[in-house]
Amino acid sequence: MSILETIKNRRSIRKFRPEPVPAELVDRLQQALIWAPSAGNLQARKFFFVYNEQLKNELAAAALNQRFVAAAPLVIVACADRAIESRYGARGINLYAVQDVAASLMGMMLLAHDEGLGSVWVGAFHEDEISRLLDLPPNLIPVAMAPMGYPAKVPTAPPRVSPAEAISELY
Ligand SMILES: Cc1cc2nc3c(=O)[nH]c(=O)nc-3n(C[C@H](O)[C@H](O)[C@H](O)COP(=O)(O)O)c2cc1C
Repeated sequence: MSILETIKNRRSIRKFRPEPVPAELVDRLQQALIWAPSAGNLQARKFFFVYNEQLKNELAAAALNQRFVAAAPLVIVACADRAIESRYGARGINLYAVQDVAASLMGMMLLAHDEGLGSVWVGAFHEDEISRLLDLPPNLIPVAMAPMGYPAKVPTAPPRVSPAEAISELY
């Protein structure tokens, strides 16, 4: 696939087959996470790869009961490390750390799609509850979760705005 095809054909997958993600693919996903850009290359992010059934169920419950979270063989919880990014003051803490995480997640989700895996960005959850479940120190803020597995159902593409609606070109 060309990169643009990968970007356009990736869909949010919310129904997974039960097979585990092979170890070799997990390794590739992890490489995609760590090779993303980050502010000042501070890499203010930490990721938790959750395979434990009970913990996945608890994560799903904390994610407003989005049950597909628990149905995926692997759930990745992505956290911003606000302590690392404090070097850049308020922008670092409030913006850069979150962008560091987002850059990693997007790259990983595109690789996942290219490898035949499916995933979905999950942002709706009770942050405090996720922190408690993972026993996170106060500097780590859960930003998003990504259930990951082989897709059982691929939805049709939701519409997008036209480039003209989203983009202003200034010469
Ligand atoms: C910041 C963010 C938060 C999201 N949170 C959720 C979520 O909690 N649950 C969910 O099912 N999808 C969630 N999504 C996925 C969007 O619904 C999805 O990307 C959008 O509808 C476009 O569909 P597509 O990804 O298939 O192109 C989230 C996406 C983003 C970027």
